[in-house]
Amino acid sequence: MLKDIDKILAEARNFQSVSPDEIEEYRIRYLGRKGIIAALFEEFRSVPPVEKRVYGSKINELKDFVTSHVNNLRSISGSQTTDRTEKDLTLPGYPLEPGTRHPVSIVRNEIINIFSRQGFTISEGPEIEDDWHVFSALNFPEEHPARDMQDTFFIEKNPDILLRTHTSSVQVRVMEKQQPPIRTISPGRVFRNEAISARAHCIFHQIEGLYVDKNVSFADLKQILLFFARELFGEDTQIRLRPSFFPFTEPSAEMDISCKICSGKGCNVCKYTGWLEILGCGMVHPNVLENCHIDSNRFSGYAFGMGIERVAMLKYEVRDLRLYFENDIRFLKQFTPVF
Ligand code: DAH
Repeated sequence: MLKDIDKILAEARNFQSVSPDEIEEYRIRYLGRKGIIAALFEEFRSVPPVEKRVYGSKINELKDFVTSHVNNLRSISGSQTTDRTEKDLTLPGYPLEPGTRHPVSIVRNEIINIFSRQGFTISEGPEIEDDWHVFSALNFPEEHPARDMQDTFFIEKNPDILLRTHTSSVQVRVMEKQQPPIRTISPGRVFRNEAISARAHCIFHQIEGLYVDKNVSFADLKQILLFFARELFGEDTQIRLRPSFFPFTEPSAEMDISCKICSGKGCNVCKYTGWLEILGCGMVHPNVLENCHIDSNRFSGYAFGMGIERVAMLKYEVRDLRLYFENDIRFLKQFTPVF
């Protein structure tokens, strides 16, 4: 048998090729699972113990030679695959991790779901808008500070083309096209010229709500908001409405929900008030209805608007807004959609 191994080794040394296919064939012939060397190791088991050492080292010499010969021939042939594992098709593949839903999308979808169950449609409008739809039609006086360069990203001046600062612009677009009854929500991106911090960003998302019909009252507004708050934050959520001001609603209010972290007892999230502000709302100003050719004597309506990131921050208790924009997968994959 020793002689056989010498013969095999001589043959193995004789092999020369630059063809990757031939080299691979050679490798399999000697090193494959059913190859010559495997067969020699099989025979080796029946070799008498005293001879084992000599046989063992001969077979290993052959194995080492073939392995390095294959690698040498491969590098000569230009095929750089010296790592045998690269060819092993039985190895597990590289995991392709599926992405996850972004928390802002999760919360947006939840909000959409709640309102669609109450008969609200979804409408969208352009992010690049004109002054009319973002400000003038919404009853903003000419000198209102929101029109200021400090808040608004202008694209062109005179006539003004700008990035919308709120989704209330979609209200106007819907009412211009459609007569009541109108019951719609408008999710979308908005832009404000603000310094980026844990609490503010120059790009964020809002959802606007609008209901216009005969005899719509403030009680209807309060009822839908209570329903919404309880669906999103839990059955025991309380709401409160504080008088406020928006040019496009009269009367206007801001809505707070009872702090779900301390259950209204007071903590540093609600700044020891027991309440968290979540949205602005009110009865659509008659001027706005008229600007959109809706008869304010026949129809009335309510509107509300909220920031999606803000709702997400309260829901997930994530205190830094910037995390929602970094798209760090370690942050994003912690959120699971309910739907
Ligand atoms: N557009 C307001 C904002 O961006 C939010 C808002 C307040 C929308 C009151 C409304 C509303 O529809 O009635 O701050």
